[in-house]
Amino acid sequence: MAEFYHAAKISDSVYWVGAIDWSIRDFHGYSTHRGTTYNAYLIMADKITLIDTVKKQFKEEMMARIATVIDPSKIDYIVSNHAELDHSGSLPEVIREINPEKVFASTQGKKVLNAHFPDELELDVVKTGETLDLGNLTLSFIETRMLHWPDSMFTILVEEGVLFSQDAFGMHLATSERFADECKSDIVHYETAKYYANILLPYSKLVKNLLVNLEKMNLDIRILAHDHGPIFRSNISEPIEWYRQWAEQKPVDRALIIYDTMWGSTARMANAIGDGLISSGVKVKQMPIGGSHRADIATELLECGALIVGSPTLNSNLFPTVADALVYIKGLRPQNLVSALFGSYGWGGEAFRQIREYLDAMKLEVVGEVRCQYVPGNDALADCFSLGKQVAEKVKGALQ
Ligand code: FEO
Repeated sequence: MAEFYHAAKISDSVYWVGAIDWSIRDFHGYSTHRGTTYNAYLIMADKITLIDTVKKQFKEEMMARIATVIDPSKIDYIVSNHAELDHSGSLPEVIREINPEKVFASTQGKKVLNAHFPDELELDVVKTGETLDLGNLTLSFIETRMLHWPDSMFTILVEEGVLFSQDAFGMHLATSERFADECKSDIVHYETAKYYANILLPYSKLVKNLLVNLEKMNLDIRILAHDHGPIFRSNISEPIEWYRQWAEQKPVDRALIIYDTMWGSTARMANAIGDGLISSGVKVKQMPIGGSHRADIATELLECGALIVGSPTLNSNLFPTVADALVYIKGLRPQNLVSALFGSYGWGGEAFRQIREYLDAMKLEVVGEVRCQYVPGNDALADCFSLGKQVAEKVKGALQ
């Protein structure tokens, strides 16, 4: 038995056997300031079962954790809840090493895994409502297509009330603690919100439907064992309620101003717009894009009622950092926001048309815009202040 890693017991029969990635800071464009974990779970039933695996380079760490509990070759089944490579990257090697009796995935999971690993995997399909007899324990399955990949699936350990929810309810947070209630609650809330804003937001309608269906199923769930970060075991209704609220995307009396600036003019305009909002009783967060990661901008936007975008014009285009943020936000399909735009320019001012194209593509109501040639004087700053007040009135109107 290997003794250089620790497997954490999370219920009578389940051990966390995943891996902690303390050093990752970029997860395909998502800033992971606090690292992450890849959670895999070992169920010590009559039929010993592994739920998900880990990123390829962490396979040895996972196998060492498993070996502190059981000889890995004794694993009978593997269930793949999600085919993205942070959970399946080591799957072919793990299968070769332990030679399980069966490997299960959803219908779409089988397609996606076979596309990732052509001719390497033999997979059995499980569908919503089906169960798998582990001898003394039972697994049941719920396909959760597009939450957030076509293959995504929930698996439930019925007798112990453990919901293995893959990415859903997870967070990119590397900790020595395995349970969320052992961590600082504000950090858990922020990182769970960040995960929702950057991964699940485009699928909010499906999230709402899933939560309704889960409620109808009246399942006895006591542990939310997701695939990233510390696990929820006490008060699991709290993260479920967070998801319900985020999925609703109800308007909030808070505005987000994002901008970049070349010589400070657009920044001065941002300040005046912000003061207009504040003077009308709407809270403001300003994020100069040059110092703010797109994933953190998306997190702030999750609980806002307005998006206000400012850009200089550079070489007949949007400033590149503003383009990056808008491309990213557009992909996340935020709802129920009003918007406005502003900026300073020298001659062409092409940035305004380009910002509008993004706002229109997102189907956001545009309250107004302020254009300023070169440096804003008192008139331009007064127009910005007024624009802030107009946006504030729209935000407050949407709350009623
Ligand atoms: Fe954690 Fe969608 O992978």
